[in-house]
Amino acid sequence: MSLSLENAVNQKVATVFAELGLDNKFASVKVSDRPDLSDFQCNGALALAKIEHKNPREIAGIIAAKLQDDKDFAKVSVDGPGFLNLSLADEFIARNMQEMAKDERLGIAKDENAHKIVMDFGGPNVAKALHVGHLRSAVVGEAIRRIEVLVGNEVISDVHFGDWGTPMGMILAEIIKQDGNLDKVESYDIKQISNFYKQANIRCKEDESAQEDARIITTKIQDKVPEFYKAWQHLRKVSVDDVKKIYHELDAHFDLWLGESDAHEVCKEVVKLAHDKGVSEVDDGATIIRLDESKGQKPPVILVKRDGGFGYQLTDIATIKMRYDDLGAQEIIYVVDKRQALHFEQVFEVAEKLNLAPKVKLEHIGFGTVNGADGKPFKTRDGGVMNLEDLIKISKDKVRESLPAPGEVEGYGEKEIEKMVEQIAMAAIKFQDLKNNIASGYVFELEDFAKFEGKTGPYIQYAVARINSILRKAKDKGLTPGSIIITTKDERDLALKIAQLNAAVMRAHTEKEPSIITDYAYTLAQVFSSFYNAAPIMTADNKELAQSRLALAKLVRDILVKLLYLLGIETPEVMLKKA
Ligand code: ARG
Repeated sequence: MSLSLENAVNQKVATVFAELGLDNKFASVKVSDRPDLSDFQCNGALALAKIEHKNPREIAGIIAAKLQDDKDFAKVSVDGPGFLNLSLADEFIARNMQEMAKDERLGIAKDENAHKIVMDFGGPNVAKALHVGHLRSAVVGEAIRRIEVLVGNEVISDVHFGDWGTPMGMILAEIIKQDGNLDKVESYDIKQISNFYKQANIRCKEDESAQEDARIITTKIQDKVPEFYKAWQHLRKVSVDDVKKIYHELDAHFDLWLGESDAHEVCKEVVKLAHDKGVSEVDDGATIIRLDESKGQKPPVILVKRDGGFGYQLTDIATIKMRYDDLGAQEIIYVVDKRQALHFEQVFEVAEKLNLAPKVKLEHIGFGTVNGADGKPFKTRDGGVMNLEDLIKISKDKVRESLPAPGEVEGYGEKEIEKMVEQIAMAAIKFQDLKNNIASGYVFELEDFAKFEGKTGPYIQYAVARINSILRKAKDKGLTPGSIIITTKDERDLALKIAQLNAAVMRAHTEKEPSIITDYAYTLAQVFSSFYNAAPIMTADNKELAQSRLALAKLVRDILVKLLYLLGIETPEVMLKKA
């Protein structure tokens, strides 16, 4: 149990319920819908009365009378049909702030059922540069990973490289067409390899025999015929090195760099298992599994293609088995484009049918696309796919415009400015992405996304830098954070907002929805801003008050830093602005 204010109130109410012999499960409280009436409310008396056939106002009245004995409640009232409205004593709130401030976890609870989660996100493909479509998987995936780690789950992240499909055969077939053989493969870099892939795509569209060649070579790679397998290994290595650079820049962390290819042996086992269990059948030369119609009409899953090749679905099915057998996964989370929803439904159903990962929770978190102003997936000016690298560069250029030039501010040369450009650009890109519900697409916006005002990442970074500066100035004057007291409405409002931290993180965790964190961070920064305008720190009436307000400010700073960290965003100590 965390020491959050909400939990503390909950506990008090639950204790009173127990003392009165009432069922505890109705004792839960929530932040009040009527802040003019109360801080928290409990609606349990209504449900309880229904079950016990009693008058809800009467039950609420009995509970209220007992709660009123507790000095931590300033006021307890029964309103409407039987709502319990609870207003907290200022000292109670202050004490809670104090506890949060000295707790390393800032009062954030841990998942009571901590378990092992394998997260599958990233999903890059060999020979293809990461494009804007890969942005959300990396950014959303990393945020969820950090949230899950914070609440105490063990998370293993796997990038799940797309390295085993027909594109591999297409590339090698194209190289053979152009070079006559595979002798030069190992001299090719990522640019050259992706060019071969582009040319192969064009050729295969027009020429069926080229498609056939590509299929044959794909099978040779999968059968590990040395010449082809070795060439493929080079394609893979060059691609991994290339995408690692961008994931590093995005600060997305992967524990494992496995791919579809690593599931190959287990794919064979799964095919055999499906056969032995009588679950699969041969249809037009392909091995397929038909799914139960009772679970909705879905096309059959192709395990082995007519040419003997293993398909995308089989690799995902086998990977579930590996994650269960080898990694001990208790939950597997996929952060993948929602257009692949059907694929995952099929894959999960087969895994269940074959009992590959008993009791493991399988979950596809499908995200919407990053769009351009026309509402269609984001494109370059000439209509091509936008590379992620280019997108990051454009964003940095935009951010650089709003910062002083290197050398203009003392202590900020080229290196320091570039570091800040990077931190702010990443904040702008990631916050813009994460502030939207995962499932909905959003328009990538390059005008306001890096502004220091509005619901942006840089706005929150700026709020942090501002508090840093307040703390520095105070320190220069010999003033340090002290114990927290609540004396004004502004202090109280800020404290109650601070107190919602745990609930926000818990909701983001259970709903797997980082936008809950962006919303909370943004409102907290706003509430702090009004507090700071109304409740002066350095010129407070007395030292005790100044130190208390300073402690509140520091607490807000620590919370914002933690929240931004959860979103994958760094916080510069100082933020500069162009004069
Ligand atoms: N490489 C795939 C693609 O580009 C995405 C992989 C998603 N993850 C998975 N386990 N299927 O479509």
